[in-house]
Amino acid sequence: MSGERLRMGIAGLDDMMGGGLLKQSVCALIGTYGTGKTTFALQFLREGLERGENCIYISLEEREDRLLEYIAQKGWDVTQFLNKSLFIIRLDPTDFNLANNRIKDELPRLIREINASRVVIDPLSLFEDLFETDVTRRQEMIRFIEGMRDLDCTVVVTSEADRNNPFSSRHALIEYLADTVILLRYVRATDLTDVHLALEVVKMRRSAHSREIKPYEIQQEQVLVYSEANVF
Ligand SMILES: Nc1ncnc2c1ncn2[C@@H]1O[C@H](COP(=O)(O)OP(=O)(O)O)[C@@H](O)[C@H]1O
Ligand SMILES: [Mg+2]
Repeated sequence: MSGERLRMGIAGLDDMMGGGLLKQSVCALIGTYGTGKTTFALQFLREGLERGENCIYISLEEREDRLLEYIAQKGWDVTQFLNKSLFIIRLDPTDFNLANNRIKDELPRLIREINASRVVIDPLSLFEDLFETDVTRRQEMIRFIEGMRDLDCTVVVTSEADRNNPFSSRHALIEYLADTVILLRYVRATDLTDVHLALEVVKMRRSAHSREIKPYEIQQEQVLVYSEANVF
């Protein structure tokens, strides 16, 4: 991890993090379904592509065609980047051996080969689900995240929040391993008021960062984080 920053491409959030993610660090976006994890991750890659960087998106959930449809819907034309500087890899999360090999062996090789500076794994929680015991999951994930940190790239992983605890990921593991943790969640003032989306930077190694809870909106074309506003 160097001291240099890499803008995520989400203005308000970059401000909350003192200018962006630390280069060569691992960031976890934790939230329940629909909180925008995939959208944030795509915007992170979009920023990279616009800066001429090479990017890899590992998808364990969405099929490539659906993902491309969603990207197109956002008014973002990736045809010029596809398989040149943007590589989308769909992994079947039900095939443990295949997913395991591809994530642990092939991904690091591909990152080096194309000199990728931004990598997304969405959602990493589906990969974590594949391990049979908590002990192997922990050991394997520590090794994997350490390995990613040694590569010359910045990694964003998404993780499903625990069904009963929106502050924790399903396996309560990635928040310890990642350098940066951003929590995305739904908030309501009372049961009868509208639901809002709000985020906080819960952890950021080696950085002064905001600890405030800030509202954000998923719009047609982009995510907006209102770092100057309050949730209610
Ligand atoms: N075109 C759009 N305009 C506004 N909101 C959208 C649009 N597309 C998706 N959304 C919102 O984004 C949410 C999905 O975000 P997504 O990134 O897929 O979440 P997650 O990956 O956390 O499940 C949807 O539930 C919807 O509320
Ligand atoms: Mg998603």
